[in-house]
Amino acid sequence: MTTHKIAVIAGDGIGPEVIAEGVKVLEEVSRKDGSFKFEFTYFPWGCEYYKETGRMMAEDGIETLSKFDAVFLGAVGAPGVPDHISLWDLLLIIRKKFDEYINLRPVKLLKGAPTPLKDVETEDIDMVFVRENTEGEYAGSGSWLYKGQENEVVIQNGVFSRKGCERVIRYAYELAKKEGKTLTSISKANALNYSMVFWDEIFKEVGQDYPEVKTYSYLVDAASMFMVKDPKRFEIVVTSNLFGDILTDLGAAIAGGMGLAAGANINPERKFPSMFEPIHGSAPDIAGQGKANPLATVWSASQLLDFFGHEDWGKKVIDVIEEVLVEKKVLTPDLQGNATTSEVGDEVIRKIRRL
Ligand code: NAD
Ligand code: IPM
Ligand code: MN
Repeated sequence: MTTHKIAVIAGDGIGPEVIAEGVKVLEEVSRKDGSFKFEFTYFPWGCEYYKETGRMMAEDGIETLSKFDAVFLGAVGAPGVPDHISLWDLLLIIRKKFDEYINLRPVKLLKGAPTPLKDVETEDIDMVFVRENTEGEYAGSGSWLYKGQENEVVIQNGVFSRKGCERVIRYAYELAKKEGKTLTSISKANALNYSMVFWDEIFKEVGQDYPEVKTYSYLVDAASMFMVKDPKRFEIVVTSNLFGDILTDLGAAIAGGMGLAAGANINPERKFPSMFEPIHGSAPDIAGQGKANPLATVWSASQLLDFFGHEDWGKKVIDVIEEVLVEKKVLTPDLQGNATTSEVGDEVIRKIRRL
């Protein structure tokens, strides 16, 4: 029996509510399969921990997490703790220290999921974003000079290394090749005359190794417009950290909302644990009310199953989510239902049991 050791950081706000359902689903899948199991270890890190200890995670947190096969994370951020502290000292530091340079974010309209777009068929919205996840605009490079003085100035650098760009772009080409899909690069070389010119050059260079992959290259402003006006143009998409962050919230909006948007932070070499999480935040506006949609977290659990080689189960979990959406009987308020977070989780479990 294989054991997957999972570190669970439920985090803040709706994090613990949605992660409980994700864990339930993983447990049910492993029970049903019988050939592997999960061992979950919970870490109480997040904003409450910060308020008590002055730290977002234990001092040896990264070292502790490095012993696990994966991290399953809910959400981070709470009123009273500055977001740049809570996010940098927990979520972002994990992505960087574990070199999780691939952020895989499916933007797929499942049957039964609502979209605000007119005249689109379910299959028209079916993309996978490969977001650069360790550097770029979120490298954390810059300075804050003459604080509080008249000549105060801040500098936020974008950091684009050749290695950093090549590896994420190559990963995206490999994925497009494997899946027989087109690959679209999204950048902004007209205005960002260093970073994005470099990105575009590398996109072309790496592409020479993949003559079979049909490619497109869009400026990010036009890409945002096309995602709304003509989403079927996009299949596999590769883009920088900032653009990927913003465009995947747009992706969530066209594919059922934040309650359905999942993400995997992958270290492809498996030198460090990868981390699985819904892409939404801690949603303080609905936290503690049982209103949070757990399906994004369940979808990220499906990505975790894929990552551990249980792709058959990963697919079954997505099929079950789709069934729940089509039936429309047990859904949270964001999807016009009146069920609670745990009722949706229970419904997913019931359907897995019946498989
Ligand atoms: P958010 O994603 O938390 O919420 C945006 C909107 O979407 C809210 O109206 C919220 O109610 C709704 N929403 C989000 N997830 C939902 C779900 N599962 N079910 C139903 N509705 C859902 O973004 P925000 O309000 O900009 O940020 C809140 C906090 O979360 C901030 O502290 C921010 O820094 C943090 N944040 C954390 C992460 C993360 O941990 N990965 C991601 C984004 C934001
Ligand atoms: C996301 C989030 C994070 C990001 C924040 C909270 C740092 O918005 O995962 O999309 O920008 O990567
Ligand atoms: Mn985001």
